[in-house]
Amino acid sequence: MNTILIGAQWGDEGKGKIIDVLTEKCDYVVRYQGGANAGHTVQFGDQEFVLHLVPSGVLHAGKRCVIGNGVVIDPEALFGEIDALKKRGVRVDGRLFISEQAHLIMPYHKLIDSFQEESRHGRKIGTTKRGIGPCYADKIARLGIRVGDLMDLRIFEDRLRYVLSEKNRVLTRIYGRPALAFGKVYKDFCAWRRRMKPFVVDTIVFLNEAVRQKKKILFEGAQGTLLDVDHGTYPYVTSSNATAGGAITGTGVAPTHIGEIVGVVKAYTTRVGEGPFPTEFGPELMEKIRTKGEEFGATTGRPRRCGWFDAVVVRHAVCVNGLNSIAVTKLDVLDELPVIKIATAYRCGGKIYDHLPSNVRVLEKCRPVYEDHPGWQEDITGVKRYRDLPSNAKKYLARLSRILKTPISIISVGAERTQTIFVR
Ligand code: GDP
Ligand code: IMO
Ligand code: MG
Repeated sequence: MNTILIGAQWGDEGKGKIIDVLTEKCDYVVRYQGGANAGHTVQFGDQEFVLHLVPSGVLHAGKRCVIGNGVVIDPEALFGEIDALKKRGVRVDGRLFISEQAHLIMPYHKLIDSFQEESRHGRKIGTTKRGIGPCYADKIARLGIRVGDLMDLRIFEDRLRYVLSEKNRVLTRIYGRPALAFGKVYKDFCAWRRRMKPFVVDTIVFLNEAVRQKKKILFEGAQGTLLDVDHGTYPYVTSSNATAGGAITGTGVAPTHIGEIVGVVKAYTTRVGEGPFPTEFGPELMEKIRTKGEEFGATTGRPRRCGWFDAVVVRHAVCVNGLNSIAVTKLDVLDELPVIKIATAYRCGGKIYDHLPSNVRVLEKCRPVYEDHPGWQEDITGVKRYRDLPSNAKKYLARLSRILKTPISIISVGAERTQTIFVR
């Protein structure tokens, strides 16, 4: 059965860890959207890996990893990551496949991402400055350069000359910065081309052949539902479809081939960057949970904003992704708390919302309606079976499942591979 795994909050839910655990039962792990803005952490033994573009299944020898057509690829980031993996004994040769339809992140995308953020006084999004937004904007505007274009140098040269002349007008006239020299960009990309070539295939044909052979495919979502450009807290979102639909358009594998959709949630909520966050903690709990949960960005190192579990947000994710089940991570981070809150609805201007308001200005004014649950106040990081969890932890999970009308299939009680409980 093919599985899509998505983030059901604002990203960093622990997708990397769950992907790593599920990879054992799969043949292919496929990234379908986003780029090196993602930071997926996998921990086992005394080793920790943070994956940005390479699918998190790569740490299981022999599994095939695919970067699908919906991903935006920065070759510098990609080969930096591949080299770092190789130094640590993880090889990708022969088992990494890159889509010829994926768009390339060019140097001007990264520059424009930074300059745009700098000029958004009071309206910053807090992007990762990896060039994601400008690259997807060019894809939609039909000004993009794809991996396949780079593979044919005549096409690449022609395309780069045309696009770069336009981008240089933006850099010089709008942002007052120096233009990029064609020769330098061309030469750099010729070098990336040589390295990339052995990995490039038509991933749409490749993946559909895997489907035909009944191989098991795991689609690795990046970011999270609330960062989805259509279903998230727009404009405080990323520029791709991080929801389940993105796995379809971002790989060319049809929806009829998907067996299961799993959403990953933290037992609380975090978000990096700007934008509304109704259940955000006050300073004291913020400090406590940020420290205990080590809530610092895996890509940018920025401190993550933390808050209570927001069932309105996750109900929205259940709905727009059609989640079959939920994986709850970082339950252990709540171990010491005497009381744990869940937001079940919002209150705004005398009105109660049990769904996510689509207007971000309304969402900014929403106040959560909480219910309180007694904590378990014991260390659960060594628990291996559901039935051995403290009774209050089981009650908390049962309540989440009931509010979300969705079963919980996995519980994570630590960052380590082995700290994972499968619920039957
Ligand atoms: P992703 O972007 O969704 O893959 O999540 P990140 O890797 O950015 O952030 C999740 C962080 O939580 C990483 O540092 C993980 O190692 C860690 N983590 C994952 N699951 C658990 C868990 O159950 N308990 C604890 N304490 N840490 C976890
Ligand atoms: P993973 O896959 C958390 C956030 C940024 C910013 C907004 C737009 O590790 O869960 P972008 O650079 O994408 O244009 O930034 O999206 N963001 C993430 N937040 N986890 C991520 O990825 C994120 N990727 C982007 O902080 O608010
Ligand atoms: Mg992350």
